[in-house]
Amino acid sequence: MNINFDFLKRRAFNMRWAQVEEGVIPLTAADHDIKVHASILAAIQNEIQQGHLPYSPACGLIEFQMAVALHYQSQKSAIFSPDCVLATNSAASAIQHFFDYFLKEGDEVLVQNPVDFLLAHCAERAGGKVVRIPTPIPNTESENITSGWEELVSDKTKVLAICHPHNPLGFYYSPAQLKQIADFARKHQLTILSDEVWSDVVLESDFVSMRDVDEQCWLVYGLSKGFGLAGLRIGALICPSLDERDALALACGYVHTMEGASTLSQMAAVAAMGDPQILQHFITQIKPVMEYAVNGINAISFLNTSMPSATFVLWIQHPKEWDTEKLVDIIEKEARVKLVPGMERWFGPAADGYIRMSCATHMDIMKEAIHRLQKWASQQKDFQRLAK
Ligand SMILES: Cc1ncc(COP(=O)(O)O)c(C=O)c1O
Repeated sequence: MNINFDFLKRRAFNMRWAQVEEGVIPLTAADHDIKVHASILAAIQNEIQQGHLPYSPACGLIEFQMAVALHYQSQKSAIFSPDCVLATNSAASAIQHFFDYFLKEGDEVLVQNPVDFLLAHCAERAGGKVVRIPTPIPNTESENITSGWEELVSDKTKVLAICHPHNPLGFYYSPAQLKQIADFARKHQLTILSDEVWSDVVLESDFVSMRDVDEQCWLVYGLSKGFGLAGLRIGALICPSLDERDALALACGYVHTMEGASTLSQMAAVAAMGDPQILQHFITQIKPVMEYAVNGINAISFLNTSMPSATFVLWIQHPKEWDTEKLVDIIEKEARVKLVPGMERWFGPAADGYIRMSCATHMDIMKEAIHRLQKWASQQKDFQRLAK
């Protein structure tokens, strides 16, 4: 197993190896146990060997901007000029800067329910008010995706934020469904923010970016999920135009060097996006691990999950009357596997009754985790202690 655990126990934070008790397997934050691809590491080494680390352009290296534009054109059906790309210090900061630039105090933002906490958190930090919109996994092409959204729009609503592919539900919208969302936004004069940080981890057919359907939307992209580069803090905000990008870069401190992405991280990202085989290799590695986990979890009578069409997280349902936080704590103490509870603060109110498991690990680790969970589950007789 090619995993350097000693290193991960010192460096892997955010509820991962460095922050759990010895012996606990952390299938928590969506980060990789799998090593970064050798050609990405070589690109960083090549940059260092030049011996200089000067200031780079405020909005990002042209190599990075072009790589993002080409990657989107070849993998995600979206065409935009490299001029629209702002290199950011992570996908998370791209979200924050969009809201900081865009919102005025009291503006309302439509945010999915459930969804990863960052969209709501960043909107609130920027003075926005979050309004939750229902987000079931679409079953059919013709389904009304925006059902129940209309009555949540007010004259203060400015932004419709979507996570595409969706963390934690693991689906992505078809072009027809994206069009429904774009039509809804146009009708209510809303600006769309599409968080596409998961768009490299697609397990089924092709992914189409929101930008293919709505040229005015803003995109968030990042390399932590598809390429395991969370520690490099590298992402991009893809703006509707050069003018908008320049205005945001000025307002958010890029122009005067308070913000900006590290050159080493940008060059690592260029190498990552430049070789489609890196992603294919990663997907080939994690898909069987996820399938194993789905089968293993569904063999436990009181848990239920299914294979997502994107992301490497599983959204696992448990009996409604159980307290999610208690369940996750007990599993950590007794089964020695750490999971993420479906708490409102992590995913919104619709997360109640679910736990999330991250699967970007080696098959042997997943086998051990599933073995521990099944053994623990088979020993449970009294579920009273899990009651809300
Ligand atoms: C939906 C979503 N957006 C943004 C982020 C932030 O990504 P990064 O750590 O690359 O900034 C994450 C991380 O898990 C995420 O799941």
